[in-house]
Amino acid sequence: VMAEKAGFKHFMLKEIHEQPRAIEDTLRGRLDREHGDVHGHEIGLSDDDARSIKRVFLLACGTSHHAAMTGRYYLESIARIPTSVELASEFRGREPMIGEGDLVVAVSQSGETIDTLIAAREAKERGAKILAIANVIGSAIPRMADAAFYTHAGPEIGVASTKCFSTQLANLMMLSIWLGKRRGSLDEAKARELVEAMARLPLLMRDVITGTRQLVCNLAKRYRDARDVLFLGRGLNYPIALEAALKLKEISYVHAEGYAAGEMKHGPIALIDSAVPVFVLMPKDRWYERTHGNLQEAKAREGQVIAIATEGDESAHSLSQDVIEVPDVPEAITPFLTVLPMQLYSYYVADFKGTDVDQPRNLAKTVTVE
Ligand code: G6P
Repeated sequence: VMAEKAGFKHFMLKEIHEQPRAIEDTLRGRLDREHGDVHGHEIGLSDDDARSIKRVFLLACGTSHHAAMTGRYYLESIARIPTSVELASEFRGREPMIGEGDLVVAVSQSGETIDTLIAAREAKERGAKILAIANVIGSAIPRMADAAFYTHAGPEIGVASTKCFSTQLANLMMLSIWLGKRRGSLDEAKARELVEAMARLPLLMRDVITGTRQLVCNLAKRYRDARDVLFLGRGLNYPIALEAALKLKEISYVHAEGYAAGEMKHGPIALIDSAVPVFVLMPKDRWYERTHGNLQEAKAREGQVIAIATEGDESAHSLSQDVIEVPDVPEAITPFLTVLPMQLYSYYVADFKGTDVDQPRNLAKTVTVE
């Protein structure tokens, strides 16, 4: 069993460390660095489809839903297509206003999640085109879809999804670049910047994992007994705050909340006192100044503030207890890096608590029955 885990104590830790490789495999043959574009043959849509799509609906559950939430930013800011993101369980049965001209992207690691499958079926019956982003080849959702764009993360054993999340982000980014180029909504320079940054990702992710894991492990040790933990983020990193909280709940059974930083004053701020660790995701992006303001507010309430910030952010250092640094990258790329220390944090807290990390109580890897 130790051999299957390649020397790691748990599959989850192994899969966290596999992410640079998973991303490399997922990008292989798809990035067109020469033209600052994406090779679309594996996406399974025609150039005509790309131009005629009027709206995109992203449907997913759990961690895949968080990837879809970040994917919405890609589809809107890169491809400039109106996009909504929906929990599959809330979409199905709602008599959704969807039909011809709409593209549904069903995001599912297993390709078998019942709610996502049924939601996609309902959308198909109403005339929408269905694209599956899945990791398991030949699974139910890709089979019912009009097209399938696979992630190549390899089999994921840990119930809490890690490497599949980052490869889903990669596919959503590639889909957005591909659509943006064909629709004429993505300019040459921005496309090239994104493609080059994606190509660098495996290296950057490796650096972030090895560069942050000791600090993150120390933080997990320090805060393992915290009763509540808050994660705040804005924009592209709001879904990462949600994902950080979900992971902590799932495997360490610690109560955690992920919140849009701008909503902090409408509720969660009441929870903050000196016993509450507050993780603030604040890479240098268009939201930075405002998120920085939230960090100051959390500090003023005596929260234990930990910033996830861009390397060299002196202000983050002077205001927070600890800073988890990530390299300076184009803002759309930051979620690929900020999620890594968040995954490691939940892993180490769970390991210190001695929970069954790979098989958390009450949870299943794939929910195929109602
Ligand atoms: C379960 C798993 C999660 C996963 C979710 C959606 O809850 O424990 O890790 O994110 O299902 O699964 P899917 O296969 O559709 O991505």
